[in-house]
Amino acid sequence: MINRFILNEVSYFGPGARKVLPEVVQRLNKVKALVVTDKGLIQFGVAKMVTDVLDEAAISYDIFSDVKPNPTVSNVKAGIESFKKAGADFIIAIGGGSAMDTAKGIGIVINNPEFDDIVSLEGCAPTKNKSVPIVALPTTAGTAAETTINYVIIDENKQKKMVCVDPNDIPAVAIIDAELMYSLPKGLTAATGMDALTHAIEGYITKGAWEMSDMFEIEAVRMIARYLPVAVNEPSNPEGRNGMAVAQYIAGMAFSNVGLGLVHGMAHPMGSLFDVPHGVANALLLPTIMEFNMPACLDKYPEIAKAMGVDTSGMSKKEAAQAAVDAVRDLAVKVGIPQHLSELGISSADIPALAEQAISDVCTPGNPREVTLDDIKALYEKVL
Ligand SMILES: NC(=O)c1ccc[n+]([C@@H]2O[C@H](COP(=O)([O-])OP(=O)(O)OC[C@H]3O[C@@H](n4cnc5c(N)ncnc54)[C@H](O)[C@@H]3O)[C@@H](O)[C@H]2O)c1
Ligand SMILES: [Fe+2]
Repeated sequence: MINRFILNEVSYFGPGARKVLPEVVQRLNKVKALVVTDKGLIQFGVAKMVTDVLDEAAISYDIFSDVKPNPTVSNVKAGIESFKKAGADFIIAIGGGSAMDTAKGIGIVINNPEFDDIVSLEGCAPTKNKSVPIVALPTTAGTAAETTINYVIIDENKQKKMVCVDPNDIPAVAIIDAELMYSLPKGLTAATGMDALTHAIEGYITKGAWEMSDMFEIEAVRMIARYLPVAVNEPSNPEGRNGMAVAQYIAGMAFSNVGLGLVHGMAHPMGSLFDVPHGVANALLLPTIMEFNMPACLDKYPEIAKAMGVDTSGMSKKEAAQAAVDAVRDLAVKVGIPQHLSELGISSADIPALAEQAISDVCTPGNPREVTLDDIKALYEKVL
C-alpha cells in the first residue's frame, strides 16, 4: 500500500496573517493578481481587509467578484475571461469554498486550456500543468479549500455538483487569518463549522484513512468540539475564531488526501438541486449517516466520542460508539442546524432525484460501509 500526502508549499496562521502578502508575492515573483472573491465579501468589507495590504505595498490587481455560493461553470468561465483581460499572472482567492473553488477552476484552465469546457474537469482530470499560483485566504472556517486538491463546481446543464480532484489545483500558499472570519454571521459560522466537523469525521472513518490522516482528523474533531460553540456564540472572541480556522485547516490537510464518504455524497445533490448551503446539508445528514455506518466503525467511534469530550469509561464499545453519534447530534442542535429536509423545502417526491446523484457522487465510494440506492433513499426518508 502506498499512501500519498499533498500539502500547500507554504502556509501561514494567526490573526493578522494577511500582512505577509507582500513578502509572499515577492517570493512568487509575480506582477499582477486577479483577486477572486464574492459580492458578500465586498459588501462586508472583508475583501478590503486584504486589498488594503496590497494597496499599501503597491501590488497591482483586478477584482473578479461574480462568484455565487455553490459556484457554477459559468462563474468559472467568466473568471477565466477576467484573468486574461487583467493580464494577471497569479490569483489571490479571498472567500469561502465558493470563491476558492472558482479560483482553482480558473487557475487550472489558464494553464491547461484544453479543459476550457470546464465539465471535462469532473473527477480526476488528466491535467498536465500546475494551476497558476493561487494564494488562498479563507474567510469561512469550513471547507479548507485553501489546502485541498478538490474543487466543487455546479454543471448547470445537468444541475449536478461536479467534484474535481486534481493535485495540480492546490493553492501554492494558504494564509489562515482568523480576523477575516469575525464578520461571518452566526448561521454561516455554525454551518461551515459543521462542514469542517463532517470532513474530520468522514476523513477519519473513510476507507483510505491511515495513521497519518487519523492523527490530523482526531485532533480536528477535538478542536471543533471545543471551539465551534465559542465561535458561534462569541463571534469576536479571537480564541474561538482562530481555533476554528486552524481546526478546519487540519481537517482539510487529511481529508484532501484520503477522501470523504456518504455524507458528502448525499449533501452535494442537496446543494445542486435545492441550493442548500453545503454545511447545513452535511450537518443535517451527519448523525443519521454515522448511525448507518456504525457497524463498520465500532473501533473508531469511541475515539470520536472521547475527542468530543465524552467520558467513555465504563461504557461498552457499542455504547461509546452511540455516544459519538449523540455528541455530534447535540452539537448540531446546539449551534442551531435544521434537523429535517422538510424545513429546507425538500419533500418525499424529491428523494429519487437526490438519491440518483448521491449514488454516483465522487465522495460516496469512500464510505466505510457499502451502500445501495435503496439505502440512500431510506436515509433521506429518515431525515425528511
Ligand atoms: N474544495 C473543497 O475541498 C471543498 C470542500 C467542501 C466544500 N466545498 C464547496 O465549497 C462551497 C461552500 O463554501 P463555504 O461553505 O465556505 O461558503 P461560501 O463560500 O459559499 O460562502 C457562503 C456565504 O458566506 C459569505 N461569507 C463568507 N465569508 C464571510 C465573512 N467572513 N463575513 C461575511 N460573510 C461571509 C459569502 O459572501 C457567501 O455569501 C460549496 O460549493 C461546497 O461544495 C469545497
Ligand atoms: Fe465539505
